[in-house]
Amino acid sequence: MKITNGTIWRDTDGNVLHAHGGYIIKHGGVYYWYGENRLENFYVDCYCSEDLVNWTFRNHVLTADSRTENSRVRADLRLRNEEGGKVNIERPKVLYDRKAGRFVMWMHYENGKDYHCAAAAVATCDTPDGDFVYHGSFNPYGEMSRDCTLFEDGNRAYFLSASRDNADMHMYLLQEDLMNVERLAASFWQGEYREAPALVKKDDFYYIFSSFCTGWAPNQGKYARTDCLEKGFGLQKEIGDETTYRSQPAFILKVEGSETTSYIYVGDRWDGKDYHNSRYVWFPLEFGEDGQVRLIECGELEIDAQTGKIGY
Ligand code: DGJ
Repeated sequence: MKITNGTIWRDTDGNVLHAHGGYIIKHGGVYYWYGENRLENFYVDCYCSEDLVNWTFRNHVLTADSRTENSRVRADLRLRNEEGGKVNIERPKVLYDRKAGRFVMWMHYENGKDYHCAAAAVATCDTPDGDFVYHGSFNPYGEMSRDCTLFEDGNRAYFLSASRDNADMHMYLLQEDLMNVERLAASFWQGEYREAPALVKKDDFYYIFSSFCTGWAPNQGKYARTDCLEKGFGLQKEIGDETTYRSQPAFILKVEGSETTSYIYVGDRWDGKDYHNSRYVWFPLEFGEDGQVRLIECGELEIDAQTGKIGY
């Protein structure tokens, strides 16, 4: 089964698939894809799939009318701004808290009018695709927090986000229940203005991919690796061409199958003029022994979720 990059993708009902700036987790043998949908009163949609090719719409898991509830973190619970308009919810990522049996979503929050809030927000749900309860937005330790991602490492997880007007990248260790940051674990790329962070671990190394900050326009992607997450990431190398094949990272999908494990770069090909015309590209990542990573541009990607094999 294969996907065709850069085309409009449809769910199994034939509707356009909206999961921009998203994230995929696997739970109970099923993949769940979360991402932005800015239509109507929607913020985050969820789709599920067993083969990574056919996606079934599950729910508008976070909307402007979602239930709100205080958590122990003092936060702004508003899902609409003072004028009643929608806020901006960007780059939603979800992890499962095994102890609590709960799904926890982290995302980037703005007030829908400008980009000055630069806040992180949290929502939870007992099921992967139910109605998430919104616990509000806040600035971790008073810091700005824009493009973000989550990364699970063993039994702990990290939240990464672009800070100081995108100048620096921050990485926070999350508390065990994923509901708050525990400490700023690392701060790196001082003044390098990277956004759209996406992480993956392969063998003994952690790899991070990111873009430069040029709004919706694509730019040169870069990557870096480290053998210890809390050391942060150092020098970056370029990946793909000067526009990362017209894409910006959303996340890295690790497909662990019966025969092999494959790594897929999932990128957004944004349409800055017509957001909902934005597309997805899924490109294979090849890791060399020497630490080099290659992003392979392809029109079609064949995926066998059972064996883990991909082909292009
Ligand atoms: C680039 C970011 O990566 C996107 O998530 C979005 O915030 C756009 N900028 C908005 O211009």
